[in-house]
Amino acid sequence: MGEKNAALIRVRNLRKSFGGVVAVEGLSFDLLQGEVLGLIGPNGAGKTTIVNMITGFTKPDAGEVLFKETRLTGLPPYKIAELGVTRTFQIVRPYPSLRAYKNLIVPLWSPRARQFASTRGGDRDAVAIDLLEEVGFERDAYVPYKLASALPLGYLKRLELARCLALRPEVIICDEVFSGLSMSEIASMLPLIERLRMKGVTLLMIEHRLRELFSVADRVVVVEFGVKIGEGVPDEVMQDEKVRRAYLGEETGL
Ligand SMILES: Nc1ncnc2c1ncn2[C@@H]1O[C@H](COP(=O)(O)OP(=O)(O)OP(=O)(O)O)[C@@H](O)[C@H]1O
Ligand SMILES: [Mg+2]
Repeated sequence: MGEKNAALIRVRNLRKSFGGVVAVEGLSFDLLQGEVLGLIGPNGAGKTTIVNMITGFTKPDAGEVLFKETRLTGLPPYKIAELGVTRTFQIVRPYPSLRAYKNLIVPLWSPRARQFASTRGGDRDAVAIDLLEEVGFERDAYVPYKLASALPLGYLKRLELARCLALRPEVIICDEVFSGLSMSEIASMLPLIERLRMKGVTLLMIEHRLRELFSVADRVVVVEFGVKIGEGVPDEVMQDEKVRRAYLGEETGL
């Protein structure tokens, strides 16, 4: 475990355009060891594009992302995940025809997970069930054994997190894990976020539900039209005139 407050991920001058649309421009920020950093901004601000550039799903036109001393930019997504930088997807991506716990078998077979498995022992199915329990599946209910296609969204969001946890991540980037969930479902996920933090996982959370985000986030970065317009402690950042204007008419729960 590194020193707290050291930059774990450094995003430097990222730029990405799609045809004529500049989705991200001159974007730089640090994700600090052990923090929960919120990445917020109105619809279409470029948040998912930023996540995709950090995790290797989209190649930036310019700029770079460093994880400690390693350059992530240019590496394929699986290699970035192998380093311990993991993500969830805004649109959940389960293997629908597999049972919930079997969805974790792919990440559990990865070299990174296997490296840890030897110290943990047990067979992979048992480890998968443990991981589902860790993200809030009830062990004694049938839900871990259901087909992923039969799971309600709340469980699919948790399954996304379990897939990250299977890799023993240093970083989890959550692209709207709260979206589509009811208020009570969101409330029941907040303790899970706190537990991840206590385990030492560093979190970057993209969210529209600001009230819930601010209950767990240490800092936030605000983007609008692909440009950073604010950064700092949530309450202070939200006082800023530019940030307030960007959020006019957005549903944030604040
Ligand atoms: N693959 C793509 N091809 C073309 N345009 C894209 C592509 N991906 C994103 N864009 C455009 O880039 C901009 C930023 O999109 P992005 O999905 O990153 O925003 P976002 O902040 O995640 O939005 P939301 O809050 O709705 O999830 C938008 O104008 C979007 O239409
Ligand atoms: Mg998005």
